[in-house]
Amino acid sequence: MAASTSAIVPFVDLKPMHELLQDKIEQAIENVLQRGDFILGKAVAEFESAFAMASNADYGIGVACGTDAIALSLGACGIGVGDEVIVPANTFIATLIGVIRAGATPVLVDADPNTALIDLAAVEAAITPKTKALLPVHLYGQMVSPSQLRKLASKYNLTILEDASQAHLAEREGDRAGSVGTVAAFSLYPSKNLGAFGDGGIILTQDAHLATTMRTLRNYGAPQKYLHTELGTNSRLDTIQAAILNVKLPHLQTWNQWRNQVAQKYDAALEPLRSKGIIPIENQSGTGHVYHLYVIRVTDECPVDRQILQEELRAKGIQNGIHYPIPCHLQPAYKYLGYQEGDFPHAEALCQQILSLPMYFGLSDEQIQQVVDAIKSLI
Ligand SMILES: Cc1ncc(COP(=O)(O)O)c(C=O)c1O
Repeated sequence: MAASTSAIVPFVDLKPMHELLQDKIEQAIENVLQRGDFILGKAVAEFESAFAMASNADYGIGVACGTDAIALSLGACGIGVGDEVIVPANTFIATLIGVIRAGATPVLVDADPNTALIDLAAVEAAITPKTKALLPVHLYGQMVSPSQLRKLASKYNLTILEDASQAHLAEREGDRAGSVGTVAAFSLYPSKNLGAFGDGGIILTQDAHLATTMRTLRNYGAPQKYLHTELGTNSRLDTIQAAILNVKLPHLQTWNQWRNQVAQKYDAALEPLRSKGIIPIENQSGTGHVYHLYVIRVTDECPVDRQILQEELRAKGIQNGIHYPIPCHLQPAYKYLGYQEGDFPHAEALCQQILSLPMYFGLSDEQIQQVVDAIKSLI
C-alpha cells in the first residue's frame, strides 16, 4: 500500500523501519548473491528456526505466501475433500482460499461484535461430525482466546490451525501466536508486522512429523531430489526474502510495542467520542495485541455516515481503509457455499461500520493528534 504524496498521515509507511536497517539489509542481500544459494539457502533455515523460537514453536517451514501456508498445513494434517473447517465470516478472503485449495469445505461463523474475532459460542454450534479443524484468525493483531480454543478442540477432537497472518509475536493468556494450535500459518507480505520485500509465508508447528511432511510438500513433494513421495507443490520462501527477514526479526518486538502504544494513544484520545458513536474494536489482550490494524467502529450513533467520514478524512490527507468491506459469504465467487445476506449479522454489521486508521512503526504523536483532530472536526 503506497502512501500518496498528498497524505499528511499515510495509512502505512514502511520507510522508518527500512531506513533504520538499510545497510544491514543490503549486506544480507549481498551475502546471498555471493553464496548463490537462492533456493532453500542458509538464510531460510536460519529464519525458520529464529521465527519458530521467537514464537515459542518448535519448527518453522518457510513457504511462498500465507495462503499457501494455510493450504499446505491442512494438507499435511490430512484434511481435505469431505472435511469441514470452521472459519470466521469476517476475514481476508485468503483464509477461505487456503481451505478450498486443500479441498476442504469452509464452514463460516459469525463474529463477536466488540472484538471482531470469531465468536467461539457460534463455533461450537457449527461443529458437525464432518468438522476436522478450527481455523481461528487472530484478526487485526489480537489472538483468539487460546484457552477457549484448546477447550473446544479437545472436547470435539479437532485440529487447530491458527491464521496468524496479522499477529506475529502477539500474546494472550501467556501464549504466543503460532504456539496454540497443531499448526499456524503466517503471511510475510510486505505490510504485515513482519514483512518481506515481496511475498512470503511461514508455517509453525510443534510436531516433528508434520514439519517433515510440510517441508516435503513445499518442495515438489520430494524428501530428496527426484524422489517424490507426496503430491507436493512448489512453495518456498526465497532465500533473499529470508535474509531480509533475519535482519528485521530482532526488531519486531520493539515495532510491535510501538504499535501497541500508538493504539493506547488513539484509545485515550478517542474516548470522548464514544458518546458520538466512535467505538474502537475492543482489546482483550492488553499489551499482547500487536495491532496490525487499528480499527474503530462508526456506529449508528455517529452523526456522520462511515463513508462520508472516510472520504472527508481522505480529503484532509488522513489515509484510512476498511478491513474488510464485504464479508466472505457475500463475495461473488463464494456464493456457491450457499450462504445468504443475514446469515452472519455481526460480521455484516462490522463490514458496514469499521474504519482502519493509520498504524505503523514510526507514526508520531503529532500525526496521531492530526488523525484524532480530523475525526473530531468532522463529527
Ligand atoms: C488473515 C489473513 N490470512 C491470510 C492471508 C494471506 O497471506 P498472503 O497474502 O501472504 O497469501 C492474509 C494476508 O494477506 C491475511 O491477512
